[in-house]
Amino acid sequence: MARIETSSSRPYHLVIFGASGFTGQFVVEEVARTASEGPKGNLKWAVAGRSKQKLEKVLEQAAGVLSKPELRTEVDVIVADVGEPDSLAAMCKQAVIVLNCVGPYRFYGEPVVKACVENGAHHIDISGEPQFLEGMQLNYNSQAADKGVYIIGSCGFDSIPADMGVLYTRDQFKGTLSAVESFLTVNSGPEGGCIHDGTWQSAVHGFADSQKLQSLRRKFNHKPLPTVGSRLRRRGSLFFSSEIQQYTVPFMGSDPSVVKRTQRFLVEEHQASPVQYGAYAGIGGVGSIIKLMFAGMMFWFLVKFSFGRNLLIKHPEFFSFGVFSKAGPTRKQMEASSFQFAFYGEGYTEEQDPSQGKPNAKIRTLVQGPECGYVATPIAMVQAALTILNEPTALPKKGGVYTPGAAFAKTTLIDRLNKHGIQFSVI
Ligand SMILES: NC(=O)c1ccc[n+]([C@@H]2O[C@H](COP(=O)([O-])OP(=O)(O)OC[C@H]3O[C@@H](n4cnc5c(N)ncnc54)[C@H](OP(=O)(O)O)[C@@H]3O)[C@@H](O)[C@H]2O)c1
Repeated sequence: MARIETSSSRPYHLVIFGASGFTGQFVVEEVARTASEGPKGNLKWAVAGRSKQKLEKVLEQAAGVLSKPELRTEVDVIVADVGEPDSLAAMCKQAVIVLNCVGPYRFYGEPVVKACVENGAHHIDISGEPQFLEGMQLNYNSQAADKGVYIIGSCGFDSIPADMGVLYTRDQFKGTLSAVESFLTVNSGPEGGCIHDGTWQSAVHGFADSQKLQSLRRKFNHKPLPTVGSRLRRRGSLFFSSEIQQYTVPFMGSDPSVVKRTQRFLVEEHQASPVQYGAYAGIGGVGSIIKLMFAGMMFWFLVKFSFGRNLLIKHPEFFSFGVFSKAGPTRKQMEASSFQFAFYGEGYTEEQDPSQGKPNAKIRTLVQGPECGYVATPIAMVQAALTILNEPTALPKKGGVYTPGAAFAKTTLIDRLNKHGIQFSVI
């Protein structure tokens, strides 16, 4: 069973690393908001990062937002830098779980995972970078298992709604669910919305390096997952979706990689029937197609060269038509934004043999919630951590590097998310 107790030498249930980052500040607020959900209603936590001054400012700001007189007396500050391994080790020795908000993970993530594994801290991140996530599985799974440590990646908007959404759809289906397609729509209010530069940087470097992912995958030496029922048809790279009534493209984030890894784990460890998955995102009307094509062509061209990447990174707003910005969204923009994942599943009723003929039943589910990057992501990350602390016996028996679905399939994470505004329902 996972170690989840604090002690005199390991005093904090949670340490938020990168607490002074754009996302980190909202994770701090979410932890402060939900501290009463910690073990026995008492959560001990600290913030960590490379600047004490910035961290103290974040605590002051969070206290203001939550109308608390202050947080500094109950929350400690730890100074740690990715470039200083001793500082990471000292941080990890004090934490039951490190909530790692320092990205891009391809540059900063591995030393933190290594320090967690070596020093017995569980690790939760919000990476949406398949190359980092799969690389950590390849390099640290067996060491994490030996140490009884859980390294659980992609616990933000990437990819908890998709990964847990597929499991929810499977669990609600009466029979054998054989395939699911998800359609994401994001809505912003009258003032619009955007995504902070941190995610843009992760995307630029991720696309630049995308061919390395294929060679990384070959190293796993995986057999192809068996297909149960009819093979799911891949849609085109741009189509009008009757499901969400708008033009739609394949979803470019980590969801397909994460869902596939979860399905593989469930097939191999629990002899589950695999669910095929296709992920799509709505982009809107004809005007959006023109913008996307123009931005996409510039992006694909520039991302190949180092001068192009520098240009992209210097001017996120210009090259993304305002989707990404150095300032990030305002609180007002965040309050008016929301997301919706519509899942369309098909499969075979209990009386029907999945090896015979076409699927004979359908199911439709929804996962919907608040603004993706800085409201839903902190909720998902913090609820994932609280699930480890409160339900250690429902986690996989061995430590290791896990996807959210693999780690939390048998926990009440979905109920917890429902209570915090990320809602799962059958329609
Ligand atoms: N899954 C999702 O849906 C989702 C949502 C939001 C964000 N994210 C991911 O989260 C990551 C952070 O994004 P962001 O927008 O918050 O970026 P950000 O504002 O640039 O924050 C980066 C953080 O990393 C810290 N940092 C950088 N170098 C460091 C070092 N050497 N040692 C210690 N800390 C260091 C920074 O510290 P300082 O404050 O001292 O500069 C800052 O706290 C990105 O990878 C992004 O893609 C994912």
